[in-house]
Amino acid sequence: MDTADPVTRRRAATVAALRQLLDALGQHRRSLTDLAVAFGSDKWGAHWYTPLYERYFEPYREQQVKVLEIGVGGYKAVDAGGESLRMWKHYFRRGMIYGLDIFDKSGLAEPRVQLLQGDQGDQEFLRRWPGSTGRSTS
Ligand SMILES: C[S@@+](CC[C@H](N)C(=O)[O-])C[C@H]1O[C@@H](n2cnc3c(N)ncnc32)[C@H](O)[C@@H]1O
Repeated sequence: MDTADPVTRRRAATVAALRQLLDALGQHRRSLTDLAVAFGSDKWGAHWYTPLYERYFEPYREQQVKVLEIGVGGYKAVDAGGESLRMWKHYFRRGMIYGLDIFDKSGLAEPRVQLLQGDQGDQEFLRRWPGSTGRSTS
């Protein structure tokens, strides 16, 4: 139950609205660690990867990158998981994010987030993927 007084609630709403505005203007950039916490990604907490990732990915942050995450999370449930996909989407605000999972995860699709079903051990599938969606960076 929300027990905050009206002034505190209004102040919180104003701060949230300002954050949204600054986000939209691209002036308020949250760190990858902040985004991992905000979206519940296992990249911070279960693992401690985000500072290292950020060191390498920061130069690409404003670019129209294509990111492939292998293993979406949530296993058989079609609309569970995807926490890290959302983290990447908000980190790379111009990027296209792809999630590959052995299970159908199509319930997680949203603008700039596309789900692919396949086996990470299927070399032919992985070879075809960059050709169908863009250039490989490796
Ligand atoms: C631990 S979760 C991944 C967590 C996710 N990376 C995140 O950031 O929240 C593992 C996921 O990998 C998927 N998976 C397991 N074997 C796979 C395979 N051979 N190919 C593709 N995905 C697989 C599972 O269905 C599950 O959703």
